[in-house]
Amino acid sequence: MLNRPRRLRKTAIIREMVAETHLSKDMFIYPYFVTQGKKHRFPITAMPGIHHFSVDELIKDVEQGLKHGLNKILLFGVGEEKTKDASSSYHKNSIVSKAVVELKKQFGDDLYVITDVCICAYTTHGHCGILHKDYVNNDESVEVLAKMALSHAQAGADMVAPSDMMDGRIGAIRKLLDRNGFENTAIMSYAIKFASAYYGPFREAAGSSPQKGDRKSYQMDFRNGNEAMKEGLLDEMEGADVLMVKPALAYLDVIHNLKQNTLLPVSCYNVSGEYSMVKMAAKQGLVDEQKIVMENMYAFARAGADTIITYHAKDILQKKWLLP
Ligand code: PBG
Ligand code: ZN
Repeated sequence: MLNRPRRLRKTAIIREMVAETHLSKDMFIYPYFVTQGKKHRFPITAMPGIHHFSVDELIKDVEQGLKHGLNKILLFGVGEEKTKDASSSYHKNSIVSKAVVELKKQFGDDLYVITDVCICAYTTHGHCGILHKDYVNNDESVEVLAKMALSHAQAGADMVAPSDMMDGRIGAIRKLLDRNGFENTAIMSYAIKFASAYYGPFREAAGSSPQKGDRKSYQMDFRNGNEAMKEGLLDEMEGADVLMVKPALAYLDVIHNLKQNTLLPVSCYNVSGEYSMVKMAAKQGLVDEQKIVMENMYAFARAGADTIITYHAKDILQKKWLLP
């Protein structure tokens, strides 16, 4: 026999030598839910191990993570006043802006702060844009989203991450940021975001479920791969710095294809449903948590993800799961 692939699998040393995919701690971004109040650290039942934090508690938790190299976070604001026009989303004293100010005061450039930009947690109806009758109006929503992004930049965010899926919002945000002197605030676009049932636990956590209808008139149809590339390339042309695919596990082909078609860094979001399914299965003793989490992380990297947004990031770094 000429070919015996098993030769290169014989011992741990040779397996390490020929391993094609590597992960580093620098790839991981950890999401946080932040809320008003003090001394607040409230567990989210749908997402074991994840909490709502008030800013003071958030600072403590971030400090803990930093010790293990967890230096990139993605912030979501929860529990703010809900209105039809989502005005609390871009207020100077919004919970996200307050958190960014405090985090930057505490940690400066040792911590990279990314903020989620979307209004579904700030609207009475729970949609990611401004409603006209039952339809989300694109251009009016884009104006509000740009204001929200600017308010986060003014608070000191390093990067803003629009997750709304309105058309043209990357260009509009880029323009407004530049006009206000924030030309160095980066944009990570949730460029390819599918209308997915995997967001279920998040919506409970963020209180952002649509009261009526679904998100299919703005988030993508999961049957479409070509359209996914179109979304990615449009956001690249509009000035995005990083392109993200979301969810991740059921969309490895999309991550792979995007990586082949862009020179920008590609990110993926290992979302709440993917996280909670693993946590619940591990709790039941069906799977080994560490092993299955790392298998998933390597799959994202093998598919082409340069960075991974995941609720598992804290476990991976604090429990040193990256070591072979
Ligand atoms: C809001 C938003 C969602 C997520 C991130 N930003 C939910 C949604 O679109 O309904 C999902 C994150 C997760 O499930 O972990 N636009
Ligand atoms: Zn939204």
